[in-house]
Amino acid sequence: MRRGGQSYPCSCDVQQRGVVRVGCFVPTLSIAAGTIPGMCGIAGYVGPRNAVEVVFDQLKRLEYRGYDSAGIAYLNGTDAIHVLKRAGKLSELGRLLDEKTPESGIAIGHSRWATHGAPTDENAHPHHDRYEDIVLIHNGIVENYLELKQELLREGHTFRSETDTEVAAHVIGREFAQGVPLEEAVRRAAKRMRGAFAFVVFSRREPAKFVAARNFSPLIIGLGEGENMVASDVPALLPYTRRVTYLEDDRIAVVTCEGVTVTDLDGKVLEALVDEIQWDIEAAEKGGYEHFMLKEIHEQPDVVRQCLAGRIDEHARVRLDNAFSETVWQEVDRVNIIACGSAYHAGLMGKYLFERELRLPTDVFYSSEFRYGDPLLSPKSLAVFISQSGETIDSLAALRLCKQRRIRTLGIVNVVGSSIARECDRTVFTQAGPEISVASTKAYLAQCLVLELLALHIAQVREMPGIRIEQEAGRLSGLADKLALALEVEGRMQEVAQAQKDARLAFFLGRNADAHVTREAALKLKEVAYVPTQECPAGEMKHGPLALIEQGTLAVFGATDPEVRDKLASNVKEVQARGGYALVVTTDDDGSLDGVGDELVRVPATGSPYLDALLAVVPLQLLAYHLARARGCEIDQPRTLAKSVTVE
Ligand code: M6R
Repeated sequence: MRRGGQSYPCSCDVQQRGVVRVGCFVPTLSIAAGTIPGMCGIAGYVGPRNAVEVVFDQLKRLEYRGYDSAGIAYLNGTDAIHVLKRAGKLSELGRLLDEKTPESGIAIGHSRWATHGAPTDENAHPHHDRYEDIVLIHNGIVENYLELKQELLREGHTFRSETDTEVAAHVIGREFAQGVPLEEAVRRAAKRMRGAFAFVVFSRREPAKFVAARNFSPLIIGLGEGENMVASDVPALLPYTRRVTYLEDDRIAVVTCEGVTVTDLDGKVLEALVDEIQWDIEAAEKGGYEHFMLKEIHEQPDVVRQCLAGRIDEHARVRLDNAFSETVWQEVDRVNIIACGSAYHAGLMGKYLFERELRLPTDVFYSSEFRYGDPLLSPKSLAVFISQSGETIDSLAALRLCKQRRIRTLGIVNVVGSSIARECDRTVFTQAGPEISVASTKAYLAQCLVLELLALHIAQVREMPGIRIEQEAGRLSGLADKLALALEVEGRMQEVAQAQKDARLAFFLGRNADAHVTREAALKLKEVAYVPTQECPAGEMKHGPLALIEQGTLAVFGATDPEVRDKLASNVKEVQARGGYALVVTTDDDGSLDGVGDELVRVPATGSPYLDALLAVVPLQLLAYHLARARGCEIDQPRTLAKSVTVE
């Protein structure tokens, strides 16, 4: 590949049909809704530079987000689209590019975080359509891709990958083959797809432009002089331009080197606002947040959407594509959940749900204890391994032990292609996107959601009369918006954190599911703010831990469960009577705790005790973050801790 400042002719033979018109100029950029990065990285460039070099550089600037494969498509002349892609690090793709030294005035590139299919060369983006006329990169999930794939298979299409992206490419290509302009083909195809996605596509038949479409997943268009570009996230654009326009939902953009036209799904040309980016590169990598932990806490509404995408159908039935057959779910007589750290705490939530709702006996083990504990395992039991990284050595060893004993194994894992994901008999992915901060926040949330989906799936298979699946599925569908509201307590949590920054000990107390969630919240505080914590079910306080409460001791109460609120109110009083400071988290549909505690924070009620308790983790994640910040701690990389624990 040629390096340096050469410029390459851009075959901009299309007439400029309109440019982005400047609406109101926004001098300082706040974090707008919808600018939270999706899972994968998107890059694209059209203009006089060597587009392949620019796009490769843009992908490098998105590396911090995590990925497991990458690829680039470019046009050399107008004869054919060239696609180069590789599993693994960008350096693998870089080696390929160095061999070929490609030059082009237009290119698109993608770094993939696997969700459909393992991180392989074949599954990496870009993907072609049937006729190799167009090429596509994509973020997000096309929820109805299986349905579309069946339709295409019946028409004789064949597929090289397991991805929803290739299906989307074929849907666009099929429209394009009807003779409509590329922009119209994308528009028609976008109307057929459900889910949260962002696409960028170009064609050898309309060679000097790319077309971008957005539905929920972020897409930003960078505006240059005689050159334009697209990216999923700001850092990819910063070396080239600071002028951007954020594509809104249900919008299509046609990008050439001369201009950008934004239309809606009916083809109406729209005005798009231009922003001036004022962040530096480091801040931009974190989406404007000071730390990844905070960014990941704020990503959680999107994580809920991604995690549920395609898993609840229009009849409110839960679909877990990769789980066991119905016969297996009928047969399982006991569940053993095995995990570490936050994943173990998610496991406790699983036990709560499985035993309470399904009456299915469930035990939760620390992986390190399980493997050396000579566990009793019945042949019809199911071992569930929960892990963000999928590489935690103790969990992996426990999994291998179960396999030796011929016990069925199910993984709940975030990283596709990881050891635990590969070695479990079946794996359901949490689809939370890369988690970079050592302290787990969004992955924990997604693990708890998958456990709920699993419980509903089992209830569905077993046709359990007492469980109203439709109602629960409806609650899950509304959860992302409630979670966004729960994040609004941040200012108050910041104040509490400031007031409590010198805390020497913090209690975390609750009952039922609240006890499990506060246990997770305690781990967050320990990990990032280095505050010693004592977590236990609130009813246990009198049996010993209460002796530790003294003037000013911080006590955090999860109090979302209406069945035990009265009892919890008494526990709050016991703490206050000994001089403790009580922070209480409850739901916004109940006034019975008004005036209880020193600070009362409310999260939106969901109608489900499980989800109410889960939402309470949000203010407590924020508390841990802001307390750590007030104490001047490292936050994203706490002392002596690692993101993935691959040694015993
Ligand atoms: O990757 P895993 O989910 O298997 O990791 C398990 C624990 O190491 C992890 O949850 C750890 O406790 C986190 N740092 C908690 O924030």
